[in-house]
Amino acid sequence: MSGPLPLSDPVGQLYAQLGEETLAAIVRGFYARVAEHPLLRPMYPEQDLAPAEERLLLFLRGRFGGPPDYVEQRGHPRLRMRHAPFPIDRAARDAWMACMDHALDGVELELQVQQTLRAFLDQVATFLINRR
Ligand code: HEM
Repeated sequence: MSGPLPLSDPVGQLYAQLGEETLAAIVRGFYARVAEHPLLRPMYPEQDLAPAEERLLLFLRGRFGGPPDYVEQRGHPRLRMRHAPFPIDRAARDAWMACMDHALDGVELELQVQQTLRAFLDQVATFLINRR
């Protein structure tokens, strides 16, 4: 089905609720943590994390109902496929979520918004586990 997402899709409302500045602050806070993480940092192929930060921001913007720049620039996200080169076990998934939790703690969010955001990220992170 095409057209706007139904109003009952809470994830599709997140961009309107967060705004560009807060979303960008979350992604920035997340990558600041990744940059220092002994398990995660070596997984990122590029020396400069800024392009990876930009890709995550673009993806989340679109997924949360904001401007669809990610799909326009990178095509269908296919996140499982794009993460296949990286060894994501339970520990890596938990480390990713810990960096994200830290970033979420750095911004002020309404409880409902925070819960929707966290549940979504938690679910995708688990979906991306690709080894035991
Ligand atoms: C579960 C732990 C995760 C690990 C260890 C991980 C690791 C990585 C790595 C190493 C990259 C390559 C960096 C780059 O060049 O862009 C990447 C890319 C990306 N990740 Fe993750 N990731 C995880 C979870 C997630 C989650 C939960 C999301 C979304 C909610 C996500 C979204 C993305 C996106 C959009 C890209 C860029 C893909 C592209 O366009 O090439 N990742 N991730």
